[in-house]
Amino acid sequence: MGRSWCVVIACLIVLFSSVISCHFDEQAVSLPVGFPPLLISENNPYTLAKQELGKRLFFDKNISIDSSVACSNCHLADYAYSDTLALSNGVKGGITDRNSPSLIYSGFSPLINKDGGVVKLDIQALIPIEDHNEMGIHILSLAKRLQSDSTYNKQFIEAFDREPDAFTIPRALAHHIRFLPSPTSKYDNFIAGNEDALTTLEHRGMGLFLSDKLKCGSCHSPPLFTTHEFANNGLYDTYDDLGRTLISADSTDIGKFRIPSLRNASLTGPYMHDGSLGTLEDVVEHYASGGSQHINKDKRIGGFNISEQEEEELLAFLNALTDLEPKE
Ligand code: HEC
Ligand code: HEC
Repeated sequence: MGRSWCVVIACLIVLFSSVISCHFDEQAVSLPVGFPPLLISENNPYTLAKQELGKRLFFDKNISIDSSVACSNCHLADYAYSDTLALSNGVKGGITDRNSPSLIYSGFSPLINKDGGVVKLDIQALIPIEDHNEMGIHILSLAKRLQSDSTYNKQFIEAFDREPDAFTIPRALAHHIRFLPSPTSKYDNFIAGNEDALTTLEHRGMGLFLSDKLKCGSCHSPPLFTTHEFANNGLYDTYDDLGRTLISADSTDIGKFRIPSLRNASLTGPYMHDGSLGTLEDVVEHYASGGSQHINKDKRIGGFNISEQEEEELLAFLNALTDLEPKE
């Protein structure tokens, strides 16, 4: 009798814990086979309480100095968390120095921002919060503001066991971003074994993308469509924005920017660090021309001949990298 009770209790424990873990996976993120792991900080693992808090903060204009700009002003869910402008508008007429990127796959990047100047996602939000061209509020003033809102205070205590402060605010925001990935593009369906997921046009475009002639895949390598390296892709002869050099102080890094993921590229234009190329057609023409003669230009950017038909195929493939079921 005693033993069978033990068995029942053991079964209940197993059942209960598997329910909890299913719930966890569903809420967090499910990645296809072959994907690298998400970079999750030890002190910031997934919880539902943090998810709700991070999302609330991300869409809240009240976290900027004059309550006019939310993170979502420049990172719109409809555009894969980028926006449609070359440079974006922050508080008090401020304009950003760079083009607003998609954030959906930022959780995989070993270094954050186009120059890699931020060492982890968990602290990145301190920059837009304090930047005069973005949200323009001191983190300690923001912490006070949120502490005086009893609903926020309660949520922070639930999520982190401490009040809104310079530690918890950026970590809640990073948590929202980190768990956004939803690799559900036609390309992902194709890789998962559905051979019909790509049309003939898209499939040919994939071949071109990965070919030695175009070399796109050597920098934008699957599955994230980036190697995370810094490269000079030949945009300019002289760079107003020095890129990686601003961090490394090394002149061989002038004009090098973090290679961006091309997932959802159809939604993230205009393109490049300064939004100077309006469309994916413009981007392909840039690479076909071979770009500038800058001394740091990567050897893989040498120009190529591409027929109209091939260009159509390549563009079709880039468009097949759009997540079909993005997370909210
Ligand atoms: C006024 C527009 C604007 C606002 C507001 C803004 N951002 Fe950004 N964001 C940008 C721009 C521009 C960049 C590119 C910066 C760079 O790479 O140097 C960026 C970059 C990022 C990155 C780096 C992504 C990567 O993969 O390198 C993250 C993460 C991010 N923003 C999160 C946020 C969060 C969280 C908020 C709100 C606290 C926010 N942003 C508010 C414009 C904005
Ligand atoms: C030497 C490495 C390298 C190669 C090869 C390369 N790229 Fe890039 N690509 C980059 C870098 C670096 C950037 C970012 C430049 C910047 O921010 O100014 C970039 C940016 C882009 C962007 C803009 C993404 C965005 O969000 O702004 C697209 C689209 C793109 N590349 C497509 C391609 C295609 C298509 C090919 C092949 C024809 C290709 N790339 C070949 C390094 C490379």
